[in-house]
Amino acid sequence: MARKRITLALAKGRIFNDTLTLLEKSGISIKKIDKKSRELIFKLDELTILSCKPSDVPKYVELGAADCGIVGSDCIAESQCDIYEPLSLNFGHCKMIVAIKKNQKFEFKAGKEVKIATKYPNIASEYFKKKKMIPEIIYLNGSVELAPLIGLSDVIVDITETGETIRKNNLKIIDTIMNIAAKFIVNKRSYRTLSNEIQSLSDSIKK
Ligand code: PRP
Repeated sequence: MARKRITLALAKGRIFNDTLTLLEKSGISIKKIDKKSRELIFKLDELTILSCKPSDVPKYVELGAADCGIVGSDCIAESQCDIYEPLSLNFGHCKMIVAIKKNQKFEFKAGKEVKIATKYPNIASEYFKKKKMIPEIIYLNGSVELAPLIGLSDVIVDITETGETIRKNNLKIIDTIMNIAAKFIVNKRSYRTLSNEIQSLSDSIKK
């Protein structure tokens, strides 16, 4: 029986190059993907690729706009989407941390309010609620490290990879919330209806 074409949503940004390298190593010809192009859909021989904002990848997969995707586990956790996560990949390693100004102290005290600047409101709220604190989220789209420096927030919840941004901005990490890596995710319906195609893709990227 002929293989059906599947759609794979990829996260642009920090893990995009590693994702393309993985696909290439898996025997998928990625020649048609022009990294500099503004195109968002690439039709490869076996796959259709969607080039997405990382935080949107789980949503595309949950809604079935893509059968599967490759994205960081930070975006998966934040999205709270109902998807399968059959495979962890060996790239995109970083961690989700809580940080404050270097010269400040912070007490995890039940009942205390805490202003959190973050791109990850769900993860941040859940973390501080578990500490029995009262989170006030200041949602930012980027350069989150700026917030405590100018008095906009008490803490940040953000990802760190090299630690360079934290160091350069005189911040310090006070806790790690989770370790992060890229994952292969799958739409629940496609997992059943396109099981051979998805298994085959999963096997080739696992090798
Ligand atoms: C991420 C993250 C930190 C930085 C950490 O931002 O939000 O700001 O990388 O990386 P490091 O530990 O290697 O310094 P990103 O580069 O995605 O840009 P943004 O600040 O615009 O979100």
